[in-house]
Amino acid sequence: MLGKRSSAETPTAAVEVSSPGPQHVAIIMDGNGRWAQKKGKIRTFGHKAGVESVRAVVRFARKTGIRSLTLFAFSSENWKRPEEEVSVLMELFNLVLNSEAKRLHKNGVRLKVIGDVSAFDDKLKAKIRKAEAMTEDNSELVLNIAANYGGRWDIVNAARHLAAKVQNGEIAVSDINEEQLDTQISTAGLPELDLLIRTGGERRISNFLLWQCAYAELYFTEVLWPDFDEEVFQLAVDDFNMRQRRFGLTGEQISISGS
Ligand code: IPE
Ligand code: IPE
Ligand code: MG
Repeated sequence: MLGKRSSAETPTAAVEVSSPGPQHVAIIMDGNGRWAQKKGKIRTFGHKAGVESVRAVVRFARKTGIRSLTLFAFSSENWKRPEEEVSVLMELFNLVLNSEAKRLHKNGVRLKVIGDVSAFDDKLKAKIRKAEAMTEDNSELVLNIAANYGGRWDIVNAARHLAAKVQNGEIAVSDINEEQLDTQISTAGLPELDLLIRTGGERRISNFLLWQCAYAELYFTEVLWPDFDEEVFQLAVDDFNMRQRRFGLTGEQISISGS
């Protein structure tokens, strides 16, 4: 982690920045619909096929020591899709929670759903709560599933929590700073986001982790989500490992330790 340095201090020695590989990776799992259409199938066929890629990335993350994996499964804007597609996606979410929660638990994975879950039906909400409670003491990997998630919502939600703390006298307005807001963001307590991957060829963030992306490295691939596997994930990590993260410093101030 990079230490803070006052502007008055002029560093003479190189600043040590360790590069242990990405600790927190997020993925915008895009391209399911096009994958299915290319095969002459309906879009939802692609969503179903995408579940296997989710298994693959969880496996890869566990194997390679990634501490947190945050997957964009359903955005706050995806409700605007045809009703039939939305209902298949909800059904799939239910089914996957049923079939995967125990397996994740057995593998030491902590499952968290981030996003505004209040919009889901009671059955789904109960399942989410159950899976989160069952896995809450696991520490091998934190798997965040972003569902009904929006980056702007995340920031507004954090601001509301801080406002409530001010209102009940817990903190003063002058206490509000980046660290305080960060404690109320959906990924609080997890390592900083290192790498954001988007499959499916688009080069945009689509209201995903806006706050967390501040210094994330971005990686875009044409590969459609159902074709994403451990090999493609490795390519993204290799690309990440080649980059020099400068966090505002000059290249000369950075020396990569341990490489
Ligand atoms: C991503 O794939 C999955 C969700 C948004 C739920 P898409 O369904 O967006 O697939 P494309 O982008 O239309 O191919
Ligand atoms: C982003 O994909 C949301 C998820 C992958 C869940 P979209 O397909 O919804 O994004 P846009 O609409 O192309 O920006
Ligand atoms: Mg899409």
